[in-house]
Amino acid sequence: MNKRQIKENIYWLGAIDWDRRLFDSLIPLPDGTSYNAYLVRGSEKTALLDTMDPPMADKLLGQLEEIPKIDYLVSHHAEQDHSGTIPNVLEKYPEAKLVVTKKAKTMLMDLLHIAEDRFVTVEDGETLSLGNKTLKFIHTPWVHWPETMVTYLEEDRILFSCDFFGSHIATSDLYVIDRGRVYEAAKRYFAEIMMPFRSVISKNLEKLKDYNIDMIAPSHGQIYDDPAWITEAYHDWVNGPPHNLAVIPYVSMHGSTRQMVDHFTAALAEKGVRVELFNLAVTDIGKLAMSLVDAATIVLGVPTVLAGPHPAAAYAAFLANALRPKTKYLSIIGSYGWGGKTVETLSGMIGNLKAEVIDPVLCKGLPAQETFRALDELAETIAEKHKAL
Ligand code: FEO
Repeated sequence: MNKRQIKENIYWLGAIDWDRRLFDSLIPLPDGTSYNAYLVRGSEKTALLDTMDPPMADKLLGQLEEIPKIDYLVSHHAEQDHSGTIPNVLEKYPEAKLVVTKKAKTMLMDLLHIAEDRFVTVEDGETLSLGNKTLKFIHTPWVHWPETMVTYLEEDRILFSCDFFGSHIATSDLYVIDRGRVYEAAKRYFAEIMMPFRSVISKNLEKLKDYNIDMIAPSHGQIYDDPAWITEAYHDWVNGPPHNLAVIPYVSMHGSTRQMVDHFTAALAEKGVRVELFNLAVTDIGKLAMSLVDAATIVLGVPTVLAGPHPAAAYAAFLANALRPKTKYLSIIGSYGWGGKTVETLSGMIGNLKAEVIDPVLCKGLPAQETFRALDELAETIAEKHKAL
């Protein structure tokens, strides 16, 4: 892909990673991703905002071939999918200064061994003139690491947001065309990397509210040329109350836990509670993370293996604990063969979740009528609690 003009003297540079299916050896990328950088040419100075993942270095250098001078290279975020090609750019442009937050400076020195004399650090709210264009740097920690910032291009009212508002989608579209698709991908992205930091992200959203923003240009996915809807979505994900939704991640070995899950799902639905099921043996954890953004309740369906929880359920508990969703109620249902410490083990894994734990329903072997009655009661308790949300 060649560089593409967004506005006069402002260009998208980037690489579309159509084939990538995993990020950080953890996060599924069902639709690939893109790494976006941006070039801003002022009347006196030229700035490049972010770079690309190291395997894409040749693409960026090819797009810069006809650019004789870069005065400033702005790095919003030290993670290597955006910073990894900084050394190549600094080598090509020996006069260029690397513009970062103080925290990013130490991180980039650690991660990429960049020489200290290449850096210029900027404070929150500081501006940098390119002549007829002005970059304003706004510190926005935890989108997605502690050092992150965004840049507001004052004259053109463009927010360059890096991971903030990003989405992992590989497409040739420069701008958002299919809002439904981008909403889902952006929500998945928020859930996987920003949800644990909701209180800080809420402050970041508050910081941006007085800026007139015509366009948001993230470093993954498409540019928002009508950005109000994505900022409203973020407000809902970050500040909105949990929804009338019970998420049930479960795993079943011989069908007993599955019978409990099916009965419980029907009971919840009859009482007006929306339910999303995730079979942990086959599920995409990104989908599960996305559901956790809204869920008022999580009920883990878990059989006992070797005296403890099935490892797939333990993984889901660990993930939920790391992502810290705004869930208000938690419980466990499942079957065991002869005993064990499934509930105690899982309870010890969810210390980050500030949720009320509702008594679990466990049964020995195949569920019988008393177990189904207990599941009905659990469903009733959850439905009543959801009415008060
Ligand atoms: Fe797209 Fe946190 O890097």
